[in-house]
Amino acid sequence: MTGPERVPAWDPSLIPDPTAALEAQLLVFAKELGEGYQRERERAQHLEQALGDLRQAYLQTVRSLALVVEAKDATTGQHIERCRLYGMALLAEMGMADDNREAEFGFLLHDCGKVGIPESVLNKPGPLTAAEWRVMRTHPIIGYQLVADIPFLRTAAQVVRCHHEMFDGTGYPAGLRGEEIPLAARVFSVVDAFDAMTADRPYRAALPVEAAVEELQKMAGTQFDPEVVHIFAPLSERLIPRSAA
Ligand SMILES: [Fe+2]
Repeated sequence: MTGPERVPAWDPSLIPDPTAALEAQLLVFAKELGEGYQRERERAQHLEQALGDLRQAYLQTVRSLALVVEAKDATTGQHIERCRLYGMALLAEMGMADDNREAEFGFLLHDCGKVGIPESVLNKPGPLTAAEWRVMRTHPIIGYQLVADIPFLRTAAQVVRCHHEMFDGTGYPAGLRGEEIPLAARVFSVVDAFDAMTADRPYRAALPVEAAVEELQKMAGTQFDPEVVHIFAPLSERLIPRSAA
């Protein structure tokens, strides 16, 4: 004789635990996400490395071009490299280095237009005549025309074109004044003059740093942007320690 069918006792372990299933799925997602993140991170690092290499290649190419000009102009020595270092340090001090990264190409190339100036004018031992000055003053435009159409040198081209403009509007080639002159060119003017004063030249010894800074301060507002000079003054001591000047 068979009795009534027995209903099995309730066993909660027989029911799949939805929390555990969700947890397992989340672990799979997290693992995939982690692997994906790692792949992207490695790809970003490779890209960053490639961009850094490319930038170094650009810098070396520009430096070589600038050295060709420097070799033609007998008075400059290591001038262009110091202008690059001082100029980028000054932009960094102003918090503007990231917005003006290509300025360093302009600092190196500022006088590239001198390739178009006859050596009889460029290296004339005595003072230039008015006509010779007119020729000499074409070098910012010649330089601008040389580099303006090269995409990675567009910012640099502004430094090349404006590196003889003066803050009060009395410079050349366009007589721009104040903030009409691109910031990188206003920065360049200061470091260019500073280096010219603090480096030995065949005809005179270098000025001490503090005397050079005093000269810059005298011309703040006329030749130079006073704000740029103001920021450069304390920086100059770090660029050339007194004992080295
Ligand atoms: Fe120049």
